[in-house]
Amino acid sequence: MMTFEIIETDVLVIGAGGAGCRAAIAASDSNQEITIITKDILGKAHTVMAEGGINAALANLDPDDLCDIHANDTCKAGAYLNNQNLAEILANEAPQRVYDLEYFGAIFSRTPDGLIMQRPFGHQTFRRTCYAGDRSGHEVLATLTEELRRRDINIIDEVFATSLFRDKKRIAGVSVIDIRTGKFQVFRAPAIVMAAGGAGRIYDVTTNAQADVGSGYAMAYKAGVELIDMEQFQFHPTGAAVPPAARGRLVTEGVRGEGGILLNKEGERFMKRYNPRQMELAGRDEVARSLATEIREGRGTENQAVYLDVSFLPAKIIEERLPTMLEDFLDIGIDIRKEPMEVTPTAHHVMGGLRIDSSCGTNLQGLFAAGEVAGGVHGGNRLGGNALAAGQVFGKIAGDSASKYAATAPTPVLNRKIIQEEYSRVMTPLEREEDVIPSKETERLQRTMWEKAGLFRNEQDLNAALKFIKHQQEQIASKLSVRNKTTRYNTEWISALELQDMTLVAEMIVRAALLRKESRGAHYRTDYPNPDNKRWFANIIISQSKGLMALKKTQIIVTKWQPPWVTN
Ligand code: FUM
Repeated sequence: MMTFEIIETDVLVIGAGGAGCRAAIAASDSNQEITIITKDILGKAHTVMAEGGINAALANLDPDDLCDIHANDTCKAGAYLNNQNLAEILANEAPQRVYDLEYFGAIFSRTPDGLIMQRPFGHQTFRRTCYAGDRSGHEVLATLTEELRRRDINIIDEVFATSLFRDKKRIAGVSVIDIRTGKFQVFRAPAIVMAAGGAGRIYDVTTNAQADVGSGYAMAYKAGVELIDMEQFQFHPTGAAVPPAARGRLVTEGVRGEGGILLNKEGERFMKRYNPRQMELAGRDEVARSLATEIREGRGTENQAVYLDVSFLPAKIIEERLPTMLEDFLDIGIDIRKEPMEVTPTAHHVMGGLRIDSSCGTNLQGLFAAGEVAGGVHGGNRLGGNALAAGQVFGKIAGDSASKYAATAPTPVLNRKIIQEEYSRVMTPLEREEDVIPSKETERLQRTMWEKAGLFRNEQDLNAALKFIKHQQEQIASKLSVRNKTTRYNTEWISALELQDMTLVAEMIVRAALLRKESRGAHYRTDYPNPDNKRWFANIIISQSKGLMALKKTQIIVTKWQPPWVTN
């Protein structure tokens, strides 16, 4: 029997992006012991990549903006698949969370009157995206990590969480590998906040950081947690097209917010054919599909891209408001003050995720979730700027709920036999000598997902993807091996374990996409190109015990913002 260290804490936060940090800060207002763990080094989370800004109806530029209008915009963009309670909470609490950030030290761009500056983002009635140039996520995360350090919070970085453990109906803990030492450890906590971020890395072309492999979804699924609408995956319209190694890197919506226009290779401003009213600031799902259609139909550039042009704007605006874009493109020899960028759609954000209630609680007692890993807030399509906002709003709620729960919950019991099994699972790739290795298999999965379960989907492709995933899972279970057999700082070993999570998340996405036989939000089926409101105005719930099921929206929620097809 192996021995392992048990680390006790009252509240454990898994993930140190915007949501995780905010959860830990909120929880630390109680007198509980709070621990936050992250796979990366603190401050290096994907939150820094949310360049364009954070939505809050502050009405600094547009005095008619209201939280209600923000909530309505959120639900309309989400094709009304949203949990409207969550959308309302998001909109109502976002302003105060932005002011908290200022209080913690964040410096936002200002209006001439000294108020927080706001820019227009797609599909929103008013200018409500608060920003810090085009480094908004960076400002938010730097501020939060500073605040974390000022508080009495245990910060443990470079640990990879492998599985959640239950004590009957409630959470008991999580196993981790300390990446630096290679040690297998277990955290025992009556309350855990899952804030492990998204899964963009399951696609070949993505804005996401290396860390975003979907382990939060996989761990939750294996622990019996319900997930919602996993088929709803957002493709951001504008990722960099070149150089090939950086294909997919985010070109912020802020570029279009500042007036940037999209052109095909013939110089045509093609959005006027798809959405003449909203043009480049239509919903992300629509703009992404329009770009992809131009490219598919041969009107793209030789790099399978279209042009995004801001060269007609005063250079000062670009320098002040889009400095990162300017620098990134100068690095590859393109001066966006004088010439257009080449952009292409890129995998960006999971709108589905762990199904939460308004306290951020899941169906597993003591497990809370916030940030991208939590589902239901954004429905079928997330508004740009709502990710940072959701991270702050639901991060705080999750942290408050977790510390409150931990204050009265008894110490959970850990099941040693299950922990032993988990230890054997994680050690297996180190013990094998096979040629099924993580890097090759990861690439194959990413390509399959991009080609068969991407922006445009159909039954045949999705079935092919599922067949591939099932075969790959078998290969992994029996043959996955790593060449480096040491345990200290063995990133190949961590990648092997991540790949197991990735195939599980890919399977959830593909199975839900096969089930939803219609097009709604970001989920577009070429074989069912229209919404089917009668059968499919429904959320898809996935759980290990119940499989896949569709819950008609009307059964689970009273809709305040009525979709046009629902009549009383
Ligand atoms: O385009 C952007 O700056 C991304 C923002 C977001 O996804 O919220």
